[in-house]
Amino acid sequence: VARPAIVFIGFMGAGKSTALAVAREAGLETTEIDALMEREFGKPIRQVFEEDGEEAFRAREAEVVEALLKGADGGAIALGGGSILSERVRKALDRHVVVWLQIGATEAWRRIANSNRPLATSEKDVIRLLEERLPLYEELADVVVLPGDRGSLARALPVIQAYVGIPVDPARLLWATSASGEYPVLVGRQLLRETTWWPLQGRRFCISDSEVMRLYGDFVSPLAEGVVIEPGEQSKTMEEAQRVLEELAGAEMTREDHVVALGGGVVGDLAGFCAHVYQRGVPVVQVPTTLVAQVDSAYGGKTGVDLALAKNYVGAYHLPAGVISDIDCLRTLPREELASGFVEVLKTGLLAGGKLWEQVRSLERINPEELDEIIFSCARYKCEVVAADERDAGLRAVLNLGHTVGHAIEAESDYATFRHGEAVGLGLLAALRLSDAPDLRDEVEDILRRHGLPVRLDPPTDTEMTLLFLERDKKRTSKGVGFTLLSKPGCPEVGQLVNPDRVRAALIELYP
Ligand SMILES: NC(=O)c1ccc[n+]([C@@H]2O[C@H](COP(=O)([O-])OP(=O)(O)OC[C@H]3O[C@@H](n4cnc5c(N)ncnc54)[C@H](O)[C@@H]3O)[C@@H](O)[C@H]2O)c1
Repeated sequence: VARPAIVFIGFMGAGKSTALAVAREAGLETTEIDALMEREFGKPIRQVFEEDGEEAFRAREAEVVEALLKGADGGAIALGGGSILSERVRKALDRHVVVWLQIGATEAWRRIANSNRPLATSEKDVIRLLEERLPLYEELADVVVLPGDRGSLARALPVIQAYVGIPVDPARLLWATSASGEYPVLVGRQLLRETTWWPLQGRRFCISDSEVMRLYGDFVSPLAEGVVIEPGEQSKTMEEAQRVLEELAGAEMTREDHVVALGGGVVGDLAGFCAHVYQRGVPVVQVPTTLVAQVDSAYGGKTGVDLALAKNYVGAYHLPAGVISDIDCLRTLPREELASGFVEVLKTGLLAGGKLWEQVRSLERINPEELDEIIFSCARYKCEVVAADERDAGLRAVLNLGHTVGHAIEAESDYATFRHGEAVGLGLLAALRLSDAPDLRDEVEDILRRHGLPVRLDPPTDTEMTLLFLERDKKRTSKGVGFTLLSKPGCPEVGQLVNPDRVRAALIELYP
């Protein structure tokens, strides 16, 4: 049986030739389709387009690429940006590991503006073509590499090669990049049971809560020391961090070892924070086991603990060295935790718009057996936002959609009445009211109701106290609290100042 090849796909300027050069340096046999087609026609592609037309080019390209993919035995291949428009090519890709080098329209245009591309002669062309091809890239990709440089492709390649050998299917790999680092994210099933692949060498020190340790600790801990905390937000404190750190020191953890954060967002935040400060920093591998953590908290490096006065008030940025999201873990997650995590999915769908929003809005029930694609898309969206703004200087604030009011509701009710996700669901309704998007607000209310999530602030919080907590939001600047608003799916706007009377009205509207 022929071995699968690593096939790079992506828009013009995404770095397919660079990826191929990196693969060649790593000793792989490589084939570049654009070069192959130029040899085939005996002239530059631009000239083929001018003299023979795009249709003739695409027809021949499909034949050549299909034959090549059918016979390929290992190695690396870079397709042309439009090769995947052919169904024959898409089918022939099935057997191979498809690596999508992702790039945004602005960056793509910056990179290709001075080159001779027959189909893209303006940024407008680029935006249109990219929009057209995006769903195809998304559908085909086994591996997504976020925009980076040559160095990041070189670091990603060995992980992609290891991924080719991972015996579980379907698992998808994301190479997350941002200002201070990059890391692999593996999303799939049976990962804890079956995978021998692990992002790091060295001893593992597994931090988990007692429930998750009982369920999944054995998969991580044959090689690991374990530190157990009590489940729940009350464990996300400085005192608990201190105790964990003392245990790590007592077990003689060194800087050659690493922390494994096995659990939900509470474990991820606390263990990530401990990893950041233990001996001034050791790596952490995040192994998220809740829906919240698999779609949101495990990625992006925000770690921390709560103070008595406010949530997440102490913390640090500490990117994971890798994330392993095993969706099978969600099978044991209590129903209400799944529903609460779904609110982060809903938020991400609203922010991303497009196909993800369509998938989220049409979900009949929250069934972990049917969430694979949605979880991967949410993880990808979160990592894309972090890639653009790791340190929360602007764009990352989109992720606060629904959280500004949500956090205030949680704080006013002493974190006792509403789960985090439930409060954020109510916060989404308030944010959509403030966004003047009544139809979308109604739809989101219907979706929350369909999944058994509260749509009323019942029992009501004290309005003025809630507004006071809102004013204390840690994202506040000297100008006031900036809201993330959303007029339609896919179009968030950050840092919007809102008249306090309107906020009050949006809150009161939620009372039963
Ligand atoms: N760092 C970030 O970017 C970020 C983003 C969003 C949320 N958060 C934080 O995440 C926290 C919430 O995370 P969460 O919702 O995952 O809560 P959690 O970690 O408290 O987990 C919820 C409960 O589910 C149990 N559990 C976890 N996995 C299980 C499984 N597979 N099967 C059965 N039970 C399981 C836990 O024992 C716990 O009781 C909050 O503290 C929030 O501030 C952080």
